[in-house]
Amino acid sequence: MLSEKIEKGLTKQLNRESESSQLYLYMASWVERKGYEGICEFLYDHSNEERIHMLKLIRYINKRGGSGILNGRETIINITTYVSIKELFMKLFEHEQKISREINFLVEISLQEKDYFTYNFLQWYVEEQIEEEALIKMILDKIKLIGSDKGSLYFFDKDMKNFHKTKKF
Ligand SMILES: [Fe+2]
Ligand SMILES: [Fe+2]
Repeated sequence: MLSEKIEKGLTKQLNRESESSQLYLYMASWVERKGYEGICEFLYDHSNEERIHMLKLIRYINKRGGSGILNGRETIINITTYVSIKELFMKLFEHEQKISREINFLVEISLQEKDYFTYNFLQWYVEEQIEEEALIKMILDKIKLIGSDKGSLYFFDKDMKNFHKTKKF
């Protein structure tokens, strides 16, 4: 059985993963409308990954006798538009850093509650956040390097499409 504190924390996290999925989806659609065919594929794909993160949490909570449910609140995406691709990835990097802090906090709670099953379960998310932060940072650094050179951004978008095809991401 999960303690009330742990169940509450995990439920919050599953809702955050759902919000992440919607945020990536929103960004993918925005980028697609701007004509970035490669970057949008990456973002659409990532939206699916975030949904899997949510599912993993739902199923774990249920397996441990809790009730893994979405809180049904409307997701509020504050940003309706972005000035540039760079701004979009800066926001995304901030978002992933926020998620990392929340995972870190959950790990702390699992230790406080001496719930080593949940502690072990959360390690997957710890690894995932390390990978995600590094990946988004890498993309952001490349975009910063490109600067205002539109031609280079065009080729970077093409590269992203190829990366996507070869499943490097
Ligand atoms: Fe996630
Ligand atoms: Fe993520």
